Amino acid sequence: MKRVRRRLIAGNWKMNAGARDAGPLALAVARAAEGMDRVDVVVAPPLVAIAAVADVLEAAGSNVRVAGQNMSDQPKGAFTGEVSGEMLRAWGATWVILGHSERRQLLGETDLLVARKTAAAMTTGPRPIVCVGETLAEREAGSTLDVVERQLRAVMGALASQPGFAAVAYEPVWAIGTGKVASPEEAEDVHARIRELLATASTELAERTCLLYGGSVNGDNAAALLAQPDIDGALGGGASLDPASFGAILAAAQRSSAGDA
Ligand code: 13P
Repeated sequence: MKRVRRRLIAGNWKMNAGARDAGPLALAVARAAEGMDRVDVVVAPPLVAIAAVADVLEAAGSNVRVAGQNMSDQPKGAFTGEVSGEMLRAWGATWVILGHSERRQLLGETDLLVARKTAAAMTTGPRPIVCVGETLAEREAGSTLDVVERQLRAVMGALASQPGFAAVAYEPVWAIGTGKVASPEEAEDVHARIRELLATASTELAERTCLLYGGSVNGDNAAALLAQPDIDGALGGGASLDPASFGAILAAAQRSSAGDA
């Protein structure tokens, strides 16, 4: 079946590659992304480096886009330490990662807060990449699909307001930074369920929402994951800090897109 969604590969640098290292890393990613005309490429540097990375990429004439790793649900005001969607956009970010499991687990972000942030991003931009995913305990208890459904339902109304504007990343917490990647079949099961749920809001939402897999993605496992019908892209962590590894994921996406039409 024809895939209407473009491939999207995003690199979440997390709290790595700050002001000094970000520019050279962004340039190396730009070089790795050259010629990848069937893949949308995004990097998410730490907040302090967003503007510099956006400038470096623009000066290099690169199509690589920049993402924030978080944003406030509020437009402005007395929210110490926060940054708004408008501020991210003014710095040159066109995407923002929301509801990453590290923020849910370590910083107590709830489904409700992630929903409010998603609603704000759908209104002001940048385009959200909303993360969902179960912990190891939840998977072992057999509640993976329930957890993902709960997290997704919280943001569905917002996503449905503009089908295709947002992406959803399925990141099983047990696969993040552990080297334990979900098998392509395990990942596809959850992706297919996410698309089914999106279809309950609208067919257009299901068809146009790019679904990314994240959790120990690298150049060796990317192709098999991207070959699954409902896996449109990847959200890399560790591999995105190494231009060669990230480049290998991009190349796998470019190759897999050949079979999409
Ligand atoms: P790793 O690729 O390092 O497992 O991290 C995945 C991730 O959390 C991306 O957001």
